[in-house]
Parts: sequence; C-alpha cells; structure tokens
Amino acid sequence: MKKIDVTIPQKSYPFFIGENILPKLPGQIKKLGLNKNLFLIIDRNVQKFYGKTLDELFSDFEGKVKKQVITASEKNKTHETLTLLYNSLLKNGFGRDTVIVAIGGGIVGDIAGFVASTFSRGVQYVQVPTTLLAAVDSSVGGKTGVNFGATKNIVGAFYQPDFVLFDTDFLKTLGEKELLCGIGEITKYAFLAGQSYFNYASKNIDRIFDTEKNVVSRIVVDSISYKASVVSKDEKESGIRKVLNLGHTFAHAVEVEQSHKIKHGEAVIVGIVCSLFLSNKLMIISDVELKKQLGFFNRFLGRIKISKPNLDALYKIMLRDKKNRENIIKFVLIKTSGEILLDVVAEKKDVYFALKNGLQLFS
Ligand SMILES: NC(=O)c1ccc[n+]([C@@H]2O[C@H](COP(=O)([O-])OP(=O)(O)OC[C@H]3O[C@@H](n4cnc5c(N)ncnc54)[C@H](O)[C@@H]3O)[C@@H](O)[C@H]2O)c1
Repeated sequence: MKKIDVTIPQKSYPFFIGENILPKLPGQIKKLGLNKNLFLIIDRNVQKFYGKTLDELFSDFEGKVKKQVITASEKNKTHETLTLLYNSLLKNGFGRDTVIVAIGGGIVGDIAGFVASTFSRGVQYVQVPTTLLAAVDSSVGGKTGVNFGATKNIVGAFYQPDFVLFDTDFLKTLGEKELLCGIGEITKYAFLAGQSYFNYASKNIDRIFDTEKNVVSRIVVDSISYKASVVSKDEKESGIRKVLNLGHTFAHAVEVEQSHKIKHGEAVIVGIVCSLFLSNKLMIISDVELKKQLGFFNRFLGRIKISKPNLDALYKIMLRDKKNRENIIKFVLIKTSGEILLDVVAEKKDVYFALKNGLQLFS
C-alpha cells in the first residue's frame, strides 16, 4: 500500500492506494482515531458488486454501522437526495460523532462530502473512490456539492476528508465508458503537470483500458500528487487552483446542453479540445502547435459523440458558470503542458469559434 500526504493549511490527510486494500478500511478508521458511528453512503452499482464484502468487513465493527445506498446520476445529485440522506441519518439516531464514508464515484463522493460538511455543522468523513475519475480527482481536494436546477455543482462547500482509500481492484468491474471518464481528468493533468507527465500519459494512457496495474498505480499517484500540490497552495480556488478547471467551463456547458448524455469526464476531453481551439484563436498557440496538441486526442475520436450541439444554448450555459464574475466568462488556457494562463477573457465570437471547431471533431 502506498501513501500520499495531502497537506492543506488547516488539515493534512493521507491518500492510500493499493491492490486489495479495501479490507483495511475498518482498521484504518480505528487507527486514525475516528468516531465509531459509521454512516456508509454507497453507490448502487458498488453495492451490487461489493455489498456482501462490505457487510462482512464491518460485521464486527465496534460501533453503529448503517448503509445507505444511492443511485449515482447527475439527475440525482440534488437536494432530494440530500433530504433522503439527512432523514436517514436522523431516523437512525446519528449525531455529531458520525463518520460519513462515501463509497462510490465522483457523484457519491460529492454528495456524501456535502452531507458531511453540513450534518451537525460538520462531521468526520472518509472517501473510498471506486471509479478512476474519483481516484485521480474528485476524492481529493475537498470540493463537495450538488447540482441545482440546470446548474452543475452550484450548491456546495469546501470540506476535506479525514482520509482517502483507493483499492485499484475496484476498476475491475468498471465499464469502458467510466474508464474513459477517468482518462478525461488524466488528460487534464497531462496538459497541466508538465512534460514528463505528458510524455508518460501520451505513451501509456490507452493501457488504462486494460486496467494495467503498474500504469494505473503510477498515473493515480502522479495525478493525486499533482492535485495535492496545487490544492495545498490554494484550497479555496482564489488563485492557482483555477488551473484544475482547464476545459471545465466548456465541459460543464456540454454536459448540460447534451442533457447529461455526455458524462463529466468525457465532456472534459471535449472541453480541453475547445480550449485548444480558443488558445489558437487568441494566438496563444500557433496553428502548428494546435495540430500537434490535437494529436493527443486522436485516440478519443469516435469514442465520444456530441449530438446536434446548439451553440447559443451552450454559450448561455457558460454565462451561468459559477466561476464567472460580472457576467464575464473566464477561461484557463494552455500554451504547452505546464504553461498555463488563468482568467483569460474571450469575445463571444472567439468562444463560438472554439465551440464550433472543437465540437466538430466529436460530431
Ligand atoms: N469534487 C471534485 O473535485 C470533482 C472533480 C471531478 C469531478 N467531479 C464530479 O464527479 C462526478 C463524476 O464522477 P464519476 O465519473 O466517478 O461518475 P459516477 O459517480 O456517476 O460513477 C460512474 C458510474 O460508475 C458506477 N460505478 C462506480 N464505481 C463502480 C465500480 N467499481 N464498478 C462498477 N461500476 C461502478 C456508478 O454506479 C455510475 O453508474 C461528476 O458529478 C463531477 O461533477 C467532482
């Protein structure tokens, strides 16, 4: 089992990664001195594959253990699900001495994290990511929240877990589409984390579809280490943490405009491509550089399909993005891997250019 320390000003916590380490979960809760009353929020598909194992693991846990299964979908990432969870916590007599344990992908993690941040004004909380996306990204950094109306993740809080435990064996039951979603966020790191990460990812990213142990482990460790280094400098996203939003302004709009038929990680891939076109239009990268960087995305063409995009609708959704100030959309753009520009403002016509050209590749 490997350990990466995530250090932010108010709190440090470990991220554990390894093969078949799920059995260590109850022991780790005890070892770190967390409370004994556990409220497990579990993804319905994870329950299907691992429910019995989890029951056995916690059968002799000293303390109260309640399992609450939820269905992971953007349409369920709402106040209604929060209400269900708060009701279940109260009905089962949980109070301030609770540990919320999120066992699932990014959706379960975001919802459970928000419940942990608000129930009894904040209780302890553990993340057990079960998707690649959650392992490389959402389980670390403390962003929690739900969607409201048509706006993604607009109600939320920054709230850090007490530890994260990722058992790489979870990926064995994950479908190809979900692996692709994780690869979406890995692509983001490839463009952010510098040339060495970029080169390794360019060469090996396709091996993730075969869940090759060494590749998965190295990529998760490098991704979390990079994310931890960014979050440690700027937990609440007032500066450098904005880099992690590369491609996301386009991505969130694509997810909503396509009625969530495109998943978050897939939309991130599309969003980074649109960002490259925008960089080119604003003369941040040359035509030659654009072509070179687009080469990274050839492997995804045909895997992601955008259906009849409406540019006006996309632009309107982008105007609602929570990162905007005074109705101005601000973009994170890249020159080369590791050379990043924050808060770039672009004219509407340039954004339309980027959307049109970027989306065309996935039509
Ligand atoms: N908080 C953050 O910093 C952050 C960062 C990136 C993304 N996100 C959020 O994460 C969400 C996407 O997360 P996701 O891609 O993990 O999707 P997800 O949570 O919807 O999980 C994807 C699918 O995989 C299933 N699943 C989960 N684990 C499984 C397993 N081991 N085996 C088989 N099936 C399994 C789920 O039931 C679901 O159908 C989005 O809502 C996005 O906004 C948050």
